[in-house]
Amino acid sequence: MGVPLFASSLERYHDRIVERLAEVTRSGRYILGPEVSAFEDELAAYLGVRHCVGVANGTDALTIALRALGVEPGDEVVLPSFTFYATAEAAVNAGAVPVFCDVDRDTACVTGESVERAITPRTRAIVPVHLFGNVAPVEEIASLGLPVLEDAAQAAGALRGGRRAGALGDAATFSFFPSKNLPCLGDGGAIATNSDDVADRARRLRFHGSADKETFDQVGYNSRLDELQAAALRVLLPELDRWTEARRTAAAAYETQGLGEVAGLALPRPVPGSEPAYHLYVARHERPDALAGALAERGVGARGYYRLPVHLQPSMLRFGGESLELPATDELARTNLALPMGTGLEDTAIAEVVAACEAAAAATPVG
Ligand SMILES: Cc1ncc(COP(=O)(O)O)c(C=O)c1O
Repeated sequence: MGVPLFASSLERYHDRIVERLAEVTRSGRYILGPEVSAFEDELAAYLGVRHCVGVANGTDALTIALRALGVEPGDEVVLPSFTFYATAEAAVNAGAVPVFCDVDRDTACVTGESVERAITPRTRAIVPVHLFGNVAPVEEIASLGLPVLEDAAQAAGALRGGRRAGALGDAATFSFFPSKNLPCLGDGGAIATNSDDVADRARRLRFHGSADKETFDQVGYNSRLDELQAAALRVLLPELDRWTEARRTAAAAYETQGLGEVAGLALPRPVPGSEPAYHLYVARHERPDALAGALAERGVGARGYYRLPVHLQPSMLRFGGESLELPATDELARTNLALPMGTGLEDTAIAEVVAACEAAAAATPVG
């Protein structure tokens, strides 16, 4: 039958979304109107924070949030190298110097220790990334005494200690890119915070650095979530917990159906105390691309992510990445392999993936 890498679909929400989009079209309000305000309130209530600020995408959300937290040109921002490029790009676009730290090899998230090693007197903020939907130990990182911005782009729906990812740090950012756990129909993003000041600064920055559209106190951005995207998100947000539960059930089924016994395959581990949202289900193998090839022959989608970690990307070499030692980052970049995950993964599909992994691993011997 075959199992694609991404097993999710918005098909069944199509009619409701189109209805809401038609209402927005008729209303004539397209920018910063009632849909964005309502979605911001609903997302804030869902997360359990005081404010959400809708912006154009998850990358702008990071840049704006860093500046709203007080990051100034030349300040250092500690962030992982094993992440999507945008985490570091946003710091650079805020004028900051990215200082790359290592991650934990089993969880793919930063730890209090890995962050602490990268802190200097010039550090102004820390950006733990909740990679693949796992949740970094934010309270350990916050105890280091610097502002913490959660990059929760991949972690909508995840929990840590009963609280939502995105409600744990001084601020957090989300992406609603269509492949994300809470998707919109194009680009979209948001900043979440309990701080009135940070929210106020973020609102100004998303509108050219102005509160009243007359006086421009700061050079900001034109970066708003638009009404059409907010209307679609308002249809989908109430589904997020159910979707997340489906992803967790699929992850648990991989274990009960024996994926952990496949020779040479290491399964992802939740950060202790965290309940991941399984944006992706990322295992490790010494020959991941050969294994992906063998899985493709058996109709199962698989691919590696971030093979060249961010500190070694050409545009980032000026920050000294070549002399950094980040062993877990190097290992994960080399060995990671995402296996099928999504909201529509039936038990039969899980069984098919496990059987395909067994056969593919046998055809892909290691060391
Ligand atoms: C960890 C991480 N941070 C930031 C982003 C940027 O989000 P966007 O694509 O909405 O700009 C993404 C997603 O693409 C991401 O995965």
